[in-house]
Amino acid sequence: MCGITGYIGEKTATDILVDGLKRLEYRGYDSCGVAGINPEKGLYLKRVSGRVDALDALIAKDPLKKGTVGIGHTRWATHGVPSEDNAHPHTDCKNEVVLVHNGIIENYLEIKEQLLRTGHKFKSETDTEAVVHLIEEKIKGLNVSGAAARSDVLEPMFFEAVRRAIAELKGSFAMAVLWARCPGMLLAARQHSPLVIGLGGGENFIASDVSAFLKYTKKAVFLNDGEMAAVKKDSVLYFNFQGKKVEHSPVTIQWDSTMAEKGGYKHFMLKEIHEQPESVENTLRGRLLPLKGDILQREINLPSELIRNIKGVQIIACGTAYHAGLVGRYVFENFGLPTSVDFASEFSDRAKIVNKDILIIAVSQSGETADTLYAVREAKASGAKVLAITNTLGSTLTREADYVLYTHCGPEIGVASTKAFIGQLAAMYVLAIHFAVIRKNIFDADAREYANELLKIPRLIEAALEGSDAVLKIAEHFAKSEHFLFIARHINFPIALEGALKIKEISYVHAEGYAAGEMKHGPIAIIYKGMPVLAVATTSKMLSLVANNIEEAKARGAEVTAIVDEDSRKLIKASHYITVPRTAEILSPLLTVIPLQLFAYFIALAKKCDIDKPRNLAKSVTVR
Ligand code: M6R
Repeated sequence: MCGITGYIGEKTATDILVDGLKRLEYRGYDSCGVAGINPEKGLYLKRVSGRVDALDALIAKDPLKKGTVGIGHTRWATHGVPSEDNAHPHTDCKNEVVLVHNGIIENYLEIKEQLLRTGHKFKSETDTEAVVHLIEEKIKGLNVSGAAARSDVLEPMFFEAVRRAIAELKGSFAMAVLWARCPGMLLAARQHSPLVIGLGGGENFIASDVSAFLKYTKKAVFLNDGEMAAVKKDSVLYFNFQGKKVEHSPVTIQWDSTMAEKGGYKHFMLKEIHEQPESVENTLRGRLLPLKGDILQREINLPSELIRNIKGVQIIACGTAYHAGLVGRYVFENFGLPTSVDFASEFSDRAKIVNKDILIIAVSQSGETADTLYAVREAKASGAKVLAITNTLGSTLTREADYVLYTHCGPEIGVASTKAFIGQLAAMYVLAIHFAVIRKNIFDADAREYANELLKIPRLIEAALEGSDAVLKIAEHFAKSEHFLFIARHINFPIALEGALKIKEISYVHAEGYAAGEMKHGPIAIIYKGMPVLAVATTSKMLSLVANNIEEAKARGAEVTAIVDEDSRKLIKASHYITVPRTAEILSPLLTVIPLQLFAYFIALAKKCDIDKPRNLAKSVTVR
């Protein structure tokens, strides 16, 4: 978690840093800050407990003016409460070295104790501050005080001091460091937390993700673990932690900066819900027909032999991506491939049972979720190959997985995942059909029909979105409820879980997703008179059973809203209906999830919650 920005060039650094922080706020938003160098006054530092808008206002009162180098940070607290003192950037004793950090320094207490003994004064409760004092200590050790104030003398010393400090750190970090005596160079380092360098003309950038600098450049270099960068306005040099130079060729990012803007919508979440037809279209494009699979094969490079020989699939993911994995299980198993799904955070023990016969599919929008990355490493250690489904080019997952299938959803900014989920579902369907064809588990004609149905989905999602007003009315009716129950069966059971998760995370009310058939085994006891129950009841072989479960809930006083299609509606008796277009049962989650996302959005809107930045959360969870 946490977002880092860095800038060096000709423009006022704080303008660019703050703009970048606003785009990175999804990574954490409990406090933030910037530091720069004012050529006349020295170190410039502004920090607030709260959001980037508050920081912006603070800077406006006392701007940096001529400073053209700086670093910025937006925080999701791990060590130390959200407060101004704990906000980054952190400084050394002399206010000369300043640093922003994302990650966790596991041995910071040890380092801090040593530094306290040598007289360092700490101003915060963070793990990060230990690093900045450690760099100060290393600078002292290089005897810089006697060195000429020339950049060609000081810059190598600064680099060496940071490198030596980093060598003592345990844990995960992405960091950017600035030394007031060396204003022509920023240093960046990465170990298990993402960091990317943006290459402009006469200006360069450091950021946790490309959205922070896309407005200025699309050329980027993703640092690898164990690498540092010395970033000047006209050049960037890359090194490993041993100080040896490494080469990088920049990649061109296809996303454009407007994709990360609200485009007239009140919230990113609403915009992203409405972008879902495109997310599915882009994720399916060119990957379904012809069904020989050669295009996909070339793209992900997954050998047919491996696909033919595996005995099963193990999906690992977190949160919404885990729900996509649960849908994936029904889809793969529909085509005869046994599939298990685990929360990445619960996978550790199960990792021992995977081997080369099991293909791991790791699903992650960000590609940076620590639990997922850890699970991937464990699975690889057990001999399994890993296929990543991710939305994020250059993410750690893409580097650690053996094969990658990208969802092409564009940047997802809302903390509540919507379009990334639908992209993950689309990717599951693409893979399942590809595997089924290669494993000869499906006739070509059936595969073609399945593909054709899938290709209709973007238009059907558009139609489902047209029901938005009806969803709004129902949401307003239930806006004061403190408990919600979502029920469904079979392939829509994960959609019930997803509907409940969406409400919990953006409205802060209690919501449960439950397998409709399980209700009678205990949870039905929680139903009280007037309790909102949302039931997915689209046409399926389970429909009559779902209808029974709805009756059971109603008999105990529940006020049921049924998600139906035009055919199933005739068979379901509910208080409210939300109609989605009919599609093949196996594809129905792609449509049934739409009203549930809208429902959660409208409930949160009625409750005046901070929809894009819900309390206690961050978009990428990079701690375990
Ligand atoms: O980036 P990832 O897909 O790995 O993130 C996984 C979860 O943290 C994420 O889906 C989270 O549950 C969302 N906030 C849900 O809306």
